[in-house]
Amino acid sequence: MPKALARRYAYCEVLGPKGPVPADDLILGFVLFAPKTTYPQHSHKGISESYISIAGSWSENDAAVFAPGSLILNDDGHEHRITTGDRDPCLLAYAWTGAPEALSGPMTFSRPGTLRR
Ligand SMILES: [Fe+2]
Repeated sequence: MPKALARRYAYCEVLGPKGPVPADDLILGFVLFAPKTTYPQHSHKGISESYISIAGSWSENDAAVFAPGSLILNDDGHEHRITTGDRDPCLLAYAWTGAPEALSGPMTFSRPGTLRR
């Protein structure tokens, strides 16, 4: 985790292997990003990830700008990065589904320059 990023976002898991509501094959949580933040390129091995925008604007892979109410799905292995808008914080609800071994594994970031759209 880059140090600069650690000060620009926070998350909480409300359901999942480490959450207050236990579950092995599903994680539900919230992530809050500061304005002008880029969460680096990454993918999730064995996990499908979906986001619902609650507040603020953001883009994924610089392909579009998503407003509150948007739903985004990142299938297993899909390379993606998140960039938030210039003015407001961005709050997203997220869900990860996958096998228990995949959901309890560490997050890994991709090498720069390997992004596929
Ligand atoms: Fe992700």
